[in-house]
Amino acid sequence: MTDPTTADDDALHTPVMLARCLELLAPALERPGAVMVDGTLGLGGHAEAFLRRFPELTLVGIDRDPEALRLAGERLRPFAGRTHLVHAVSDALPTVLADLGIAAVAGILYDLGVSSMQLDRVDRGFSYARDAALDMRMDTTSPLTAARIIAEYDEGSLRRIFFEYGEEKLAPRYARKIVEARAVAPIETSAQLVDLLQAATPAALKNAGHPAKRVFQALRVEVNAELDVLARTIPDALDALEVGGRIVVLAYQSLEDRIVKREFAARSTSTAPRGLPVELPEHAPEIRLLVRGAELASDAEKARNPRATPVRLRAAERLRKAAA
Ligand SMILES: C[S@@+](CC[C@H](N)C(=O)[O-])C[C@H]1O[C@@H](n2cnc3c(N)ncnc32)[C@H](O)[C@@H]1O
Repeated sequence: MTDPTTADDDALHTPVMLARCLELLAPALERPGAVMVDGTLGLGGHAEAFLRRFPELTLVGIDRDPEALRLAGERLRPFAGRTHLVHAVSDALPTVLADLGIAAVAGILYDLGVSSMQLDRVDRGFSYARDAALDMRMDTTSPLTAARIIAEYDEGSLRRIFFEYGEEKLAPRYARKIVEARAVAPIETSAQLVDLLQAATPAALKNAGHPAKRVFQALRVEVNAELDVLARTIPDALDALEVGGRIVVLAYQSLEDRIVKREFAARSTSTAPRGLPVELPEHAPEIRLLVRGAELASDAEKARNPRATPVRLRAAERLRKAAA
């Protein structure tokens, strides 16, 4: 894997798989009056490229992070007449569109996970490599922080989230050590938690990646309810597409990608009972997949931009209206 400290700084802020996202969504966005949703607006990198490439496009940009919306708003000011920027979680899409009077959209993009801004801002507490308060909220107005989880969840719940969301084999051991340590003194910073996890890791496993990596991932997923939100988001997004409308999803962890894969597979398969001589229209697949399996970034992009290394891109097109 490329060392992020040696990567080109500009590349770190370059939208992931941008050319491919533009290519996949283009056939739907070239239509007059096309509306596109960027459901994870971030710093507006993808959004700006779409607005430049499609001069008639209207873009609804959604982000749960108020600071991201502010920064994207500045960047997208030249396109203010064609943009609606909304502070919301992606699973609020039906309400967001209804409030704007939009019945269906031509394109949807999700570039999941945290932005380079969120990772770079030490005070947001996403990084195990730098000491900060244990926060990890994408939406700084929501109440649940990583510090609260570490302070309040019982041992079984800590074990479950480390195991399920971090795929951490040492989940039971880490959960027990946290509960023991917090009985003595509160654990409030990333450095405190990293020290504790390092001390709890058996010497034989110390070389198997940073001991805090999977625990921090698990805490972030729990703080932001990322998997539950995504499991609601993808069906709603597919329902919001007009016929011929297209969706692209960029996922950075296998748990997220699995949710996208399953929903795309279910909707792209006929639901006709076996043995039926003719397929009724309501049994026909709702979508068709635009790429085989999950597409990866090119080696050249991964070398330029290490953020692109784990990405899995999936894309689909709506074939017919959903059954009423
Ligand atoms: C990887 S960044 C997007 C970067 C963006 N494509 C760009 O080019 O600048 C992900 C952004 O989506 C937001 N986000 C992640 N999951 C979200 C969700 N479920 N609902 C709303 N916003 C979300 C994060 O706050 C973050 O700002």
